[in-house]
Amino acid sequence: MAPIIRVEHLRKVYRVGHEKVVALNDVDLAIEPGEVCCIVGPSGSGKSTLLNQLAGLEKPTKGHVYIGKHDISTMTENELAKFRQEHLGFIFQSYNLLPSMTAAENVALPLMFKGVGRKERIRLATLELKKMGLGKRANHRPTEMSGGQQQRVGIARAFVAKPKVIFADEPTGNLDSQTTRQVLYRMLQMAKENGTTFVMVTHERELSAVADRVVTIMDGKVESNVLMDAQTKAAAQAEMFKDILEQEVPAEPKTTRPLKSEKKSEKQ
Ligand SMILES: Nc1ncnc2c1ncn2[C@@H]1O[C@H](COP(=O)(O)OP(=O)(O)OP(=O)(O)O)[C@@H](O)[C@H]1O
Ligand SMILES: [Mg+2]
Repeated sequence: MAPIIRVEHLRKVYRVGHEKVVALNDVDLAIEPGEVCCIVGPSGSGKSTLLNQLAGLEKPTKGHVYIGKHDISTMTENELAKFRQEHLGFIFQSYNLLPSMTAAENVALPLMFKGVGRKERIRLATLELKKMGLGKRANHRPTEMSGGQQQRVGIARAFVAKPKVIFADEPTGNLDSQTTRQVLYRMLQMAKENGTTFVMVTHERELSAVADRVVTIMDGKVESNVLMDAQTKAAAQAEMFKDILEQEVPAEPKTTRPLKSEKKSEKQ
């Protein structure tokens, strides 16, 4: 399959006064559609810089970032803003919810940019909040919610318009370990359900056990790029989400009619 994200010779240099900081140096990378990709590495290695270039939040100094067929590194600011609204979602470490809006209004924002009417927006946003276990919090404002709840609102907002790719920068960085697992579980579940490509920066290496691909950044370069095998990943997820999976209510059986063979035995 053709990669959904392709990075070629990416370089990012920041200027601070007379100093030059080379944050990314000749990065090449490809991410396949539907993949969960974790970007890991020490503090200051260039993880957020890379994510910001991938998501079109910053312009590279050199090189190209392709999302599908689109070279986002050559787009104007206006084109980029439109492209982000149509195709990309972003989850921030600090949630970035608008404090004057309710949870449902925050989640509905990406739909407003797509021209969906208010009533339908709020309906869809409330549905998305329900999926995140926040059906009862739709009318709460961010200050009336815990950190984990606010981040789940942030996740609902990222997923509501069904973007092709979602980027997340340390989305569980402000959460305790139990909430981290719950939030991570929800994000992965939603990504799988929607077939979304999911790219997440984390400095907690153990979280990357749930990824299909783990990219390690060191001093602005890709140090390693490893595809995980399905069995190892399934085992890691079963272990990490053990308590959540135990609490999940099993799905209702689709039909309650007896099977043919059972009917026969009833007659006898
Ligand atoms: N806006 C900026 N101006 C100048 N230098 C910057 C800027 N943003 C990042 N840098 C520098 O670029 C390098 C990479 O920073 P980046 O934020 O990408 O690191 P990171 O891997 O995300 O670190 P952390 O794990 O601490 O978040 C660092 O040396 C940082 O100081
Ligand atoms: Mg960072």
